[in-house]
Amino acid sequence: MKLLVTGAGGMLGHSFLRLAAGRHESWGIYRSFCPSAPIGRALVMDLTDRAVVKEQVAALKPDAIIHTAALTDVEECERDPLKARQINVEVTKELADLGEKLGSEVVYISTDYVFDGKRRDYSEADAPRPINFYGESKLLGEEAVRLFCPRSLVIRTSIFGFNIQSKIGQVEYFRESLTGGKFITRFSDQFSSPIYTGDLSRVILELLEHRSTGLFHVGGGERVSRYDFAVKVAEAFSLRPGRIRPAPFTHLEGLAQRPRDSSLCSEKIERYLKMELPKIGDGLERLKQDLGGHQKSEGKK
Ligand SMILES: NC(=O)c1ccc[n+]([C@@H]2O[C@H](COP(=O)([O-])OP(=O)(O)OC[C@H]3O[C@@H](n4cnc5c(N)ncnc54)[C@H](OP(=O)(O)O)[C@@H]3O)[C@@H](O)[C@H]2O)c1
Repeated sequence: MKLLVTGAGGMLGHSFLRLAAGRHESWGIYRSFCPSAPIGRALVMDLTDRAVVKEQVAALKPDAIIHTAALTDVEECERDPLKARQINVEVTKELADLGEKLGSEVVYISTDYVFDGKRRDYSEADAPRPINFYGESKLLGEEAVRLFCPRSLVIRTSIFGFNIQSKIGQVEYFRESLTGGKFITRFSDQFSSPIYTGDLSRVILELLEHRSTGLFHVGGGERVSRYDFAVKVAEAFSLRPGRIRPAPFTHLEGLAQRPRDSSLCSEKIERYLKMELPKIGDGLERLKQDLGGHQKSEGKK
């Protein structure tokens, strides 16, 4: 298959490309950051530049477009809803339309933040009700994909992984803070079900190879509080979990609202692929291995 991955410099995009490039002709779209030795083949463009996107994607005619690019900063989406709408909705609509015209399958990566978090273990049958603009824009992206490209795959997830650019994700933040001797506080009653990006990439690739379409929830095999997740990261990297303090969930003033329990029920995908989704500890072990391999290839210590 010829695969085209948007957000190739992002946390999920680079992870998916690492896996896919060994099996399929793989192309990545980068914007501001393109590594000196990209995995697969690289295209550099801003996805909001409609003419360039149309021309280059049409010339490539991929079998599938794996759309991971998004404005993922929840606070920035709240501050600048027009920007969030442009990237998370309009760009998605354009790619879905293009995918339909070119006969490419479109894979859209959505989020557990489409739910309000008042319940738990959300399934594909539960009605979304976002409580911040990031979640709302991602839900509008889902609707655009379904409308413009019926042969699409929509995956709702919650992820952890590592960045290949200077951006700090939650795993990097915990490691840097604890290594630097800092104390950190995390909610002990705010829950999600995160999956390692490497494990999610395997699921996405398998779904693509099965030519699957429709909506799937793909979380990890475990529902976990923000506090417990931080402790698991500390344990995996032999850091001091005693420096992580639990606190009760509260909406922090001035910040966008977050769902209290956005854990996903992933039974549908487990039945469909006849597999069990991995627990967080197993994902963290694979993250450590992949991070080691990445740092070696980058020439870092
Ligand atoms: N991170 C999470 O916790 C989480 C949870 C659930 C779902 N998701 C979804 O999973 C997907 C991947 O998330 P992630 O954390 O891997 O994202 P990420 O690390 O923030 O990467 C997003 C990528 O999108 C690219 N991008 C944004 N605007 C663009 C534009 N106008 N043109 C071209 N590229 C653009 C960025 O390019 P630059 O490198 O140039 O900035 C970046 O590489 C997203 O769709 C997100 O909504 C994420």
